[in-house]
Amino acid sequence: MTKDMTERHGMFASIIFLLIFFFGLTLFASWVVRANLGPDSVVSTATFRTKCAMCHGRDGSGSQIGKSMNVPDLRSPVVQKLSDAQLAQIISDGKGGMPSFKNSVSEDQIHGLVTYIRSLHHPVLFLRGREGTL
Ligand code: HEC
Repeated sequence: MTKDMTERHGMFASIIFLLIFFFGLTLFASWVVRANLGPDSVVSTATFRTKCAMCHGRDGSGSQIGKSMNVPDLRSPVVQKLSDAQLAQIISDGKGGMPSFKNSVSEDQIHGLVTYIRSLHHPVLFLRGREGTL
């Protein structure tokens, strides 16, 4: 009887363990899947490199020229805490020494750039975005 109870206990514990394990796995998988941006991200990476990297650097930290203009690090909390709408507006209208891009970048591209800026903060997104362009 007692042995039976212990066995049940053991089984119960392993079921809980498995549940937690699979729950964690699911969370991790969905994180990676969500990070899988598809072809759009490659386009945004290319757009960022041609239009933005000269000032912001490929990784958003700021190029030599950018630093002389006091560009903020795009990975920093100051920039990351801005909403998607604010980021899109800054890209579209410019700000301070930052030129306006509304005539040279489409709305879709702006959207892609916002995602790209977010990805600088997210290692899996960032690595995904780099794939195919390197
Ligand atoms: C000619 C250099 C230059 C280029 C090219 C440039 N930027 Fe900037 N960017 C700046 C400067 C300078 C600032 C700082 C503006 C300020 O706060 O006065 C800035 C700021 C920003 C900010 C942060 C604004 C804030 O409020 O903190 C974002 C986001 C940004 N740029 C995105 C982009 C994107 C995306 C592109 C490409 C489409 C781009 N920039 C191209 C110079 C540039």
